[in-house]
Amino acid sequence: MMSGPTDAAALFDSAHGVLAGGVSAAARIPPYLERPFYQTRGTGPYIEDLTGRRFIDFNMSNGAALLGHDHPAVREAVTVGLALGIIAGAETAYHERLARTLTEIIPAAERVRFATNGSDVTMIAVRLARHATGRTRIVKFDGHYHGLTELFLFRRDESGAVVPSSGGVPPAWGDDVLICHWNDAAAFEAIMARHGDEIAAVICEPVHYNAGCIPPAPGFLALLRERTRECGSVLIFDEVLSGFRMALGGVQEWSGVTPDLCTLAKALSNGMPLAAVAGRADLMAGFSPSGPVAHSGTYSGHPLSILAGQATLDALRAPGVYDALNALATDFYRDLQAIFDRHGVPVVVQGLGARFGLYFGRRAPVTTYADAVAHNHGLHRRFVVACLERGLYLPAYTKQGPPGHNGFSLAHTPAVMADALAIMDGAAGSLRA
Ligand SMILES: Cc1ncc(COP(=O)(O)O)c(C=O)c1O
Repeated sequence: MMSGPTDAAALFDSAHGVLAGGVSAAARIPPYLERPFYQTRGTGPYIEDLTGRRFIDFNMSNGAALLGHDHPAVREAVTVGLALGIIAGAETAYHERLARTLTEIIPAAERVRFATNGSDVTMIAVRLARHATGRTRIVKFDGHYHGLTELFLFRRDESGAVVPSSGGVPPAWGDDVLICHWNDAAAFEAIMARHGDEIAAVICEPVHYNAGCIPPAPGFLALLRERTRECGSVLIFDEVLSGFRMALGGVQEWSGVTPDLCTLAKALSNGMPLAAVAGRADLMAGFSPSGPVAHSGTYSGHPLSILAGQATLDALRAPGVYDALNALATDFYRDLQAIFDRHGVPVVVQGLGARFGLYFGRRAPVTTYADAVAHNHGLHRRFVVACLERGLYLPAYTKQGPPGHNGFSLAHTPAVMADALAIMDGAAGSLRA
């Protein structure tokens, strides 16, 4: 293998000369480093940096590598795909098999359409809903992330007005976007009472992991289900991040609330680029070629990713996987909370399944986006830096806004989690200094 640079600062400097902003994705610069965390290798629960130093990874490819990095079955599946000739733009028998598997494990999935990434599928799910309803407006929730298509690049400003959250987005397109507070039943009721017959789709992260981990309040998902049904709107669960995270069937299985459509990606194929929309057969018939709703793509359902997806789901379907995952999660979150409490550091640890958020400066559970944003950024920063110095990579620090999400994989054995807790214990202790 080619030996590479070992100086991260020099590499970032050089990258600035050829890559826009020095990176290939904006989120690849953790603000506390002010440069990328350059990875050279991933193995199980670990990553290595340019110098060969090993870290316990609590990012896991932004949640994609739920089985762990370089999982042998996924690697083997990709090898099979390589032997087919690295074909793209082709349908194979593997697509039918993986779609069938999804219909067996995802409650909403009567039909499946594969794509490449999460932004693709949230975009086409809304397109399908708009076609089915003949309406254009959507309801989304404060801070919920659904990728980078124009429709989702809106936020509320201090006055409550819906404004673009990115340059290049026509402000007028925000007329079709209504933004509601997460877990605020009264606000949602009011929007649907006033605008229900204009709403094509209500889309949410059914567990708001992009703000750390804010689960739905009891009854909130059921309320979304009831009102959308009454108003003839399509309910979309964006399970790009929450899918497979706490139950094989995702939040739909965990909560017992079945949406009309859902989107899946990330853990679906353990690090290979693959996404899917799944849902009611009558709605899904709208996609071309059976219907008029555009969707295609050279890399849509790339065979390498499809094979990786099958290997991933076969591994996740093995008996006992979720019992073990949830038991590990429960113990870890309890022990981590106890560490912070013992050191007198005000933090709420909130996790569900394999992903979690840390809310510094708080002692009460976080149930709203506003609470998540109001966490103590400075204390959070000191903690993640102290963890990195000790060999643990936590990705979720943001300069402003809510803390992001951290997570572990099935390769994080109880022994690895014990090592992580020891590191976090030392880091929490250092905050008192
Ligand atoms: C809930 C959710 N939806 C959509 C996306 C977009 O997915 P991608 O980054 O694959 O485009 C993400 C990515 O983090 C996500 O967390």
